[in-house]
Formats: sequence, structure tokens, C-alpha cells
Amino acid sequence: MTAATGRTARRVGTAPDPALLDPAERIGVDELRALQLERLRWTLRHAYENVPHYRAAFDAAGVHPDDCRSLADLARFPTTSKADLRENYPFGMFAVPREQVRRLHASSGTTGRPTVVGYTERDLRTWAMVMARSIRAAGGRAGDVLHNAYGYGLFTGGLGAHYGAEELGCTVVPVSGGMTPRQVQLITDFRPRVFMGTPSYVLALVDEFERQGLDPRASSLEIGIFGAEPWTEQMRQEIEDRLDLDAVDIYGLSEVMGPGVAQECVETKDGLHVWEDLFLPEVIDPLTGEVLPEGEQGELVFTSLTKEAMPVVRYRTRDLTRLLPGTARPGMRRMEKITGRTDDMIILRGVNLFPTQVEEVVLRTPGLSPHFRLVLTTRGRLDHLTVEVEARPDCPPERRGPAAAEVAQGVQDTVGTSLDVVVVDPETLPRSVGKLQRLSDRRERT
Ligand code: DLL
Repeated sequence: MTAATGRTARRVGTAPDPALLDPAERIGVDELRALQLERLRWTLRHAYENVPHYRAAFDAAGVHPDDCRSLADLARFPTTSKADLRENYPFGMFAVPREQVRRLHASSGTTGRPTVVGYTERDLRTWAMVMARSIRAAGGRAGDVLHNAYGYGLFTGGLGAHYGAEELGCTVVPVSGGMTPRQVQLITDFRPRVFMGTPSYVLALVDEFERQGLDPRASSLEIGIFGAEPWTEQMRQEIEDRLDLDAVDIYGLSEVMGPGVAQECVETKDGLHVWEDLFLPEVIDPLTGEVLPEGEQGELVFTSLTKEAMPVVRYRTRDLTRLLPGTARPGMRRMEKITGRTDDMIILRGVNLFPTQVEEVVLRTPGLSPHFRLVLTTRGRLDHLTVEVEARPDCPPERRGPAAAEVAQGVQDTVGTSLDVVVVDPETLPRSVGKLQRLSDRRERT
């Protein structure tokens, strides 16, 4: 503890030996920009020549791949959205014959058609290489036992992490999500050093350790690589305190590849380095589409630089963040931890609210657990938001009322909107096994 703040000093891990890094992680900015331009021009041509959607979209915008003479020229090209992918379901966005596609993944999609993505053999090798790079940046090393709790299947998390860990030289335990009591046993018996899974799932796992009378801090885990959903600095603190490990953030999305598009380095824990030799990031104003300067918050957009089976040009992720200069890998830019998605944003009586803003307030309120959900209902003709949050098992009953009031006040102070807070008994809200759905929308549709 530091006497001045009363808070535990922020923990960081050890940087890898520079000799272990990929050449791309050590590249200087000028060399990187030249490589990006060469790869960008290849991608634009590859997309234009082989994917009817891109040919039509570039033609309609009056641009041709030859118009790209500098990285700034990319802004002249049209963006691509999830709707474009859906309209070309299932294989219309592929730029190679289907026979060259070695694997498919798909996102479930809450409504309608799923989004399908494909990989050639070379794409799969690139993905394994960059995931290995990500695990190493997170603190993992060859020889580690790695417990992989990301879901295996059409979701990219399980297999993406799996092949990266094997590439790095880890011993992978391919557990997938669920069967939580069994996962506790496997961790106890196999003694993994590295854990991969969603932040919401690791919380369920920690609770299970405690239920079995085991101390999660005494487990063999030293590194946790968490992603696939937004999580806050407060959540990092909670996970690190309860498990005594270094928790780092991993980002990715199926359309761009899967996990491993950007990774936080354990020695700095200051946002995620985008692996820019493979994925070119931009941040745009989500309303006007205008490219924003470094440091300004907006919607993250990616162009793949080497993908063969399914190149993406200016893909709109709907994720909100800002780009910052590189630190642990000076040549590559960082993205700040994701605040939320444009489609996760709740507009409550004209005020924008993200679930992560509620998470920050809940986690700094004594007596409350990190298990909470947001319930939207209709009262009269207005939307109404209730936060249901579990008390911690040791929270005295008389603390619940004040804790609820503190959360309501905290959200009012930071976001400027009023909501109801209900503190419920421990272990009463549903637990996630993969990606957490924080919002339950029970509004009446008119
Ligand atoms: O979630 C890939 C992944 C797997 C990333 C495992 C990290 C770890 P999708 O299912 O296509 O792919 O969902 C992508 O999840 O656009 C974000 O909204 C969200 N997301 C992913 N990582 C993070 C993160 C995988 N670290 C969507 N922080 C993305 C916040 C994240 N949101």
C-alpha cells in the first residue's frame, strides 16, 4: 500500500527479452509506414479484383486502388459495415476460391444472419504468429501451461488463442467455457501459469474457488489475458487482487481476424498495442465518418494488410476508443481500453450511458460485488434504467441501502442521469460462461 493514497501500487510484469520479439515489434516508424503502404496497396487491389462488393463500392465512390499513393489516401475509400458482410452471406466477401479457404468462423449475431469469415492456410499461420506475439507480450513464455477458457467453436476466441499458444510453445489446456467446478480442479491439478478467458468468466471462476474453500490467490496462475468484452481499470484491480496475477487486455474481432489484433503489454499495462504490421487502424467520427487525429475518441476502423481469404477495407468496428503513441513497442500505436460499442450505448432521457461507466462506480463502492446487470423498462412513456447488483457475501444487511444510494449518486455525478439501484443477494444474478450480456432490455415496443 502507498501511504499517500491508501491504494495498492499498480503492479506490472516483466518485459520479454528483446531477442524474443518478432522483427515487426522492433521496427521503426518510418519502416513500418513503408511496409503498411506496400501492403495496403496490395490489399486494395486484391479486394477490388476479387470481391464484387469492393469493386462496386470503390467504383461508386469514384476511387481505384491505384489512387492510393500514401497512407492518407485510404480516407478516400469507402468504409465497410457489418451490413455489407450480412448482405454477402455466406461467402460473398471471400477473395479466393472457396477451395483455398481452410477454416470458417462465424459470429452468432443477435438477429438474422451470422457474419461468416474465412482464412487461407497462410492467414491461419499469420493469425497463430500474431497470437503467439500477443501471449508473449502479455507475459506468457514457451514452456508455460496455458488454461484456455475461451469458447471453442465458431467463436474465434477458443481456436485463435489455442493455435497461438501452441505456436509460442505453451502446453495448452483446451477447456473452453463452462463446467466451472471442473475448471477449478484442472487449474489446481495442472498448475497453469497463464489463463485466457473473458473477464466476466474469470469472476465466476474465482467465486467457484471460494465456494470450494480454496484460496484463488494461492493458485498457480501468474498471468491472465482477458478480452472479448469491455472491462474497466477497476475490474482489472478486482481480478488482480482476488487472483494475485497480472491481468492484461486482448482485443480482436472476427471480421478483422479474431483475438490478437491488439494486445496490452504486461510491463506497461497502458492500453493495447495494435499489431500495425498486419492491421491498419483509423479512428473516425461515428456520425460524419471523418478521420479523427491521434488522441481523439471515436469509432475504431480497421483495414487488414495481409489477409488473403477475406480482406477488409476500412471495416467499422463500432468500438469506441482513441489512438495513442506506442510505449512498450514504440513503433506501434496503442488503442485505449474500449469504453463501449456504439450499439451498447444506452440513451436515457437524452443522456448517453455505457455499461462500463456503471462498472466503474459499482466496483469502487464497498460491499458490492462485480456482478451486476442493467435492466431497461418503460415507465409511463419514458425509458427507465435499474441496476441490479449483488452484495458481496460479507456485506452486512444494513450496508445495502447506503451502497445502492452511493451507486445512484455516483452515476448521477459522472454521467448525469438518474437510475434505480437494487442490491440483491449474492449468487442470484446469472453468470456468464463467455461474453457477458450486461443489458436486459425489457422496454415495451410500440
Ligand atoms: O471477441 C475476438 C476475441 C476473442 C477477442 C477473445 C479477444 C479475446 P467477436 O466475437 O467478433 O470477436 O467480437 C468482437 O468484441 O468488436 C468488441 O466489441 C468486443 N471486444 C473484443 N475484445 C475486446 C476488448 C472476439 N478487449 C467484439 N475490450 C469487438 C472490449 C472487446 N471489447
